[in-house]
Amino acid sequence: MKVVALASDHVGLPLKEALKAHLEARGLAWRDFGTDSAERCDYPRFAYAAVQAVIEGACGCAVLCCGTGAGMAIAANKIPGIRCVVCSEGYTAALSRAHNDANMLALGARVVGPGLAAQIVDRFLDTPYEGGRHQRRLDLIREIELTGLLDGGEGG
Ligand code: RB5
Repeated sequence: MKVVALASDHVGLPLKEALKAHLEARGLAWRDFGTDSAERCDYPRFAYAAVQAVIEGACGCAVLCCGTGAGMAIAANKIPGIRCVVCSEGYTAALSRAHNDANMLALGARVVGPGLAAQIVDRFLDTPYEGGRHQRRLDLIREIELTGLLDGGEGG
């Protein structure tokens, strides 16, 4: 069973705590990469810690919580191999897995309540990647990620 990496800043902390209880109720394992305090802090540090756990394989995926999810996702997506999506409803969470093989989910504690967040997490965790035609598109993203270019810079 894949371990879910969790991380938040001070704004996302209460949502992260609620999601821990939800994951436990489902029998899913998690690891918390901070913050563990309501003191104001800088979200990129905690996003980065969760990213490392996913890249190294210690965790299969991650759920990040900040005010909107945006800052955490922007920070996480700077690292090659990370596909982090901000979601405020379950449909996008499911499709980000099925079509984009997303490996990190970012949630906004100022946007979604804990009940909706738990539904979004469930859709994210329970939806498999479909592969097939979608893999070609992920390969193109990988090319951009690794080279900064697409098709050698010719576009298309
Ligand atoms: C903190 O005020 C806030 O900027 C942060 O939680 C997050 O929303 C950033 O994207």
